[in-house]
Amino acid sequence: MGKFKVRVNKETCIGCVACTSISDNFEMGEDDKARSKQAEVDELGDIKEASDVCPTNSIIIEEKDE
Ligand code: F3S
Repeated sequence: MGKFKVRVNKETCIGCVACTSISDNFEMGEDDKARSKQAEVDELGDIKEASDVCPTNSIIIEEKDE
């Protein structure tokens, strides 16, 4: 469980690997799309930066309610 949900939209990810170079939370899958190692985190840290840098805005961060 965590405060934020983090995921990658595989429909829009173009595999530019910027996110994986910025944050250890992201890795490339066999489909050449990024994926989030953790589905939920308490602290965003460099995940926020990776999200800002993604050219297709494919990193989706959702703050959980409770
Ligand atoms: Fe894909 Fe964006 Fe990362 S295009 S590989 S999610 S920087």
